[in-house]
Amino acid sequence: MQLFRTKPSTPDDYCNSGLKRALSAFDLTLLGIGAIIGTGIFVLTGVAAATKAGPAVVLSFVVAGFACAFAALAYAELAASLGGCGSAYGYSYAALGELLAWMVGWILILEYGVATAAVATGWSGYFSSALASIGLALPDALTHAPPQGGIINLPAAAIVLLLAILLAIGVKQSSQFNAVLVFVKLLAIAVFIGVAVFHINTELWHPFMPFGWSSTGPGGEPTGILSGAAFVFFAYIGFDAVTTAAEETKNPQRDVPIGIITSLAFCTVIYIVVSGLLTGIVSYKDLNVSSPVAHALQLLGINWASGLVATGVIAGLTTVMLVLYYGLTRIFFAMSRDGLLPPFFGTLNETTRTPVRVIILCGLLIAAIAGFVPLGELAELTNIGTLAAFVFVCIGVIVMRARQPGLHRPFKCPWHPVIPIMGIISCGTLMAFLPLITWQRFGVWLLIGVGIYFIYSMHNSRLAKALP
Ligand code: ALA
Repeated sequence: MQLFRTKPSTPDDYCNSGLKRALSAFDLTLLGIGAIIGTGIFVLTGVAAATKAGPAVVLSFVVAGFACAFAALAYAELAASLGGCGSAYGYSYAALGELLAWMVGWILILEYGVATAAVATGWSGYFSSALASIGLALPDALTHAPPQGGIINLPAAAIVLLLAILLAIGVKQSSQFNAVLVFVKLLAIAVFIGVAVFHINTELWHPFMPFGWSSTGPGGEPTGILSGAAFVFFAYIGFDAVTTAAEETKNPQRDVPIGIITSLAFCTVIYIVVSGLLTGIVSYKDLNVSSPVAHALQLLGINWASGLVATGVIAGLTTVMLVLYYGLTRIFFAMSRDGLLPPFFGTLNETTRTPVRVIILCGLLIAAIAGFVPLGELAELTNIGTLAAFVFVCIGVIVMRARQPGLHRPFKCPWHPVIPIMGIISCGTLMAFLPLITWQRFGVWLLIGVGIYFIYSMHNSRLAKALP
């Protein structure tokens, strides 16, 4: 039985997959920023401030940022010591054995797949209103899924298919496209910060913690800084996607840790500044809208800046989709190469050296979901999946240190085992603050995963076939 067997952990044992090694530490940092800054800061901050934390939403960002920082240090150690294979799935395979690795991979598919489709739906909203503002409004039937009274959310489906083409063309081209759009969204954020600092009204920060650390709203829903942190955690999702690029990185053991830590640190600072400013320029009660950052500028009467921020949002959400979709395809590819998913997913196109089949199949699936299912409420499902993957990565660090104390570790998680344990506790606590329905949906997803493992993956695993 291979359930608890681990894969060899020397970097090149398993990871010469033929993917093109084209990315540098700088590319990875931009991929990280591309995946991280999006819906979370541009949309969810307002909802969290208005309904969960008030001006103390800034503390929600700090709490969620700490949980991610612990996880990021754990990721960085595994990325540096295990190198080429990348992703929480690959690290779990080396540290925790096949069954748990499968579960982590299955969770990552949920994380990246649902997040890409959910962000595509948000993107469609912004894109449609941008078209409407220049007199090219699309009919409602083409911008809403059937359960919302439409026929299809066409922009949501179309953007996913366009990104599929880009990803199929090549990883370097995708990363260059990402870099341009990251620049646009950072410009938009810089404009917001530059304008907002001159309009701060410190009275708006009082009361600072109207919902306290943990409380219950009028409808019985959890409120307070901690449930705000579990909610805005979505804003941080994506730095882990950097690890899925390990097999396409020139020097993964050095560059992946740099990409993870730099992108996360940079975005955390931005989040704290932006959320602090946002609640300092308009009342937090006015922020429960779909575009709080642009809305706040409009309330101040600065319409040109509001338009620019909206452009930044469209660019920002595009890069989030691009990088998460990219991560999804690489997870499928790695799991297929290991025999846990059918070999169909594990082939590369010889010209582009990208997994074109997986890219097209995932693109069609995500486009169908984004086009026909309204996904707003599923963001929290992404949070629970990602938090669970972070917990496994932190456990992985502790297990690898015990199992292979002599393994070469170019980057070591400081204060071991305190940091990984803090990561387990903080990510576990954030999971506990997510709603019951999210736990139920997550449970169903895990059960399906266990079923597939025992029916298919266990019997076709490359590791199992190699066992005597
Ligand atoms: N962190 C990404 C976002 O906020 C998923 O959109």
